Amino acid sequence: MSYTIGYFVGSLSSASINRTLADAMISLAPDQLEFREIPIGGLPLYSPDHDADYPAEARVLKRAIEESDGILFVSPEYNRSIPGALKNAIDWGSRPWGTNSFARKPTGIAGASIGAIGTAVMQSSMRGVLSFLDAPQLNAPEVYVRVEPGTFAEDGTLLDDSLAQFLRHYMEEYCAFVQRVLAANAPGHI
Ligand code: FNR
Repeated sequence: MSYTIGYFVGSLSSASINRTLADAMISLAPDQLEFREIPIGGLPLYSPDHDADYPAEARVLKRAIEESDGILFVSPEYNRSIPGALKNAIDWGSRPWGTNSFARKPTGIAGASIGAIGTAVMQSSMRGVLSFLDAPQLNAPEVYVRVEPGTFAEDGTLLDDSLAQFLRHYMEEYCAFVQRVLAANAPGHI
């Protein structure tokens, strides 16, 4: 059986190290997982004024989340928190009230930084947001990647073998977690 994973890259940068990390994680994931990016760059800023008539970009976003078996966030940390573009996308997905698209979706969080703590504070903030949205999260292992010269090649190839081994392990754990949550969500399961 295969599972569709919708993934968010929390950076709009054309040279994003988080996009490079997401690509590496996808390449190391079990074959059962099929990945589709859920783009965030074209969304307007969320306002409750849109709730009565969501714009097309936001409808597409909500449908992409709802059609995914699991969600993966790969994001930088901005000023010790979630980048605005990603938080905006999450806000769109959570509304209008009563139609939270993230409810019960198994989620994973990863991040890359040039700084020493590898997006730890952003991830902690994300966990609060996803808890409020009733989205189960893979708690362990955690993916805090510090990108240094030699982590990735110019073409995005992952050069760090121990990181590759760890990311492969993470994706196996994430796959098992998605399967567990989907089984728990199935009708008839207590
Ligand atoms: C950063 N950066 C950063 N890094 C970090 O570890 N903690 C932080 O709080 C911040 N804050 C921050 C704010 C803003 C506005 C920018 C632009 C950058 C540095 C960040 O880790 C670095 O720019 C990464 O390359 C961002 O990831 P992407 O965009 O390359 O995926």
